[in-house]
Amino acid sequence: MALYALGDLHLSYQSKIKSVAQRESALWQGHEERFLENCRAMVTDADTLLLLGDHSWGNKLPYCRKDLEYIESLPGRKILLRGNHDHFWDVKKTEQLNRMYEGRLHFLQNNYFLYKDYALVGTKGYCFEGPFYMSPGGQIVGYDEEAYAHAQALVEREAGRLQKSFDAAVRDGHRRFIMLLHYPPTSLMERDSIFTKMAEQYHVEQVIYAHCHGEARFHDSIRGRKKGILYSLASGDCLRWKPLKVLS
Ligand SMILES: [Fe+2]
Ligand SMILES: [Fe+2]
Repeated sequence: MALYALGDLHLSYQSKIKSVAQRESALWQGHEERFLENCRAMVTDADTLLLLGDHSWGNKLPYCRKDLEYIESLPGRKILLRGNHDHFWDVKKTEQLNRMYEGRLHFLQNNYFLYKDYALVGTKGYCFEGPFYMSPGGQIVGYDEEAYAHAQALVEREAGRLQKSFDAAVRDGHRRFIMLLHYPPTSLMERDSIFTKMAEQYHVEQVIYAHCHGEARFHDSIRGRKKGILYSLASGDCLRWKPLKVLS
């Protein structure tokens, strides 16, 4: 029995939309088959696989069915988190999705799931991604304050959703946590955020996030240990489509 994680499959079985990297980078060529093969080699049906958002390019559920069928075909118990591209997933309709895919897929939003005695809590999260103003030498010398204020409002909304997830787990008596985010836990120029503070407050053991694509973005946020918490980036291209082993 083990716990694995990976995010950002960006599946497009029913959609013509693809990111530039998906169209041009060798790392993304046939990534669906490579991930499936890696899962079959590593993950058993007794294991749990956390999929950290940006599942599908389809913008409505009928346009994501084949992508979700592919996810269903992966081994193990699949727990899905919402990413910024998952327009098929209305936050208010998470219970409906859980009923629709009961026993096949599990959607994590304002609720929690268990792995052994760990509560798996999480939300999409949010962080400020610019615009930044750069010096001719490529240093960040400022940022758009209006855009920053807007991002902060979204961060607070997501923190509220994460709080609901923690509250549900705590109400049921759980005290050990793995925290999942789609976005990195901090913005580019920050080392702390409301999300890192919540992780510290609840003595979370690991924070796993995704969303950062391409070598240049892999160190946008915290990786490794900070204040006793292990932070890991698990975007698919960063992991080269091999799921990250979170716990044995
Ligand atoms: Fe993504
Ligand atoms: Fe994303």
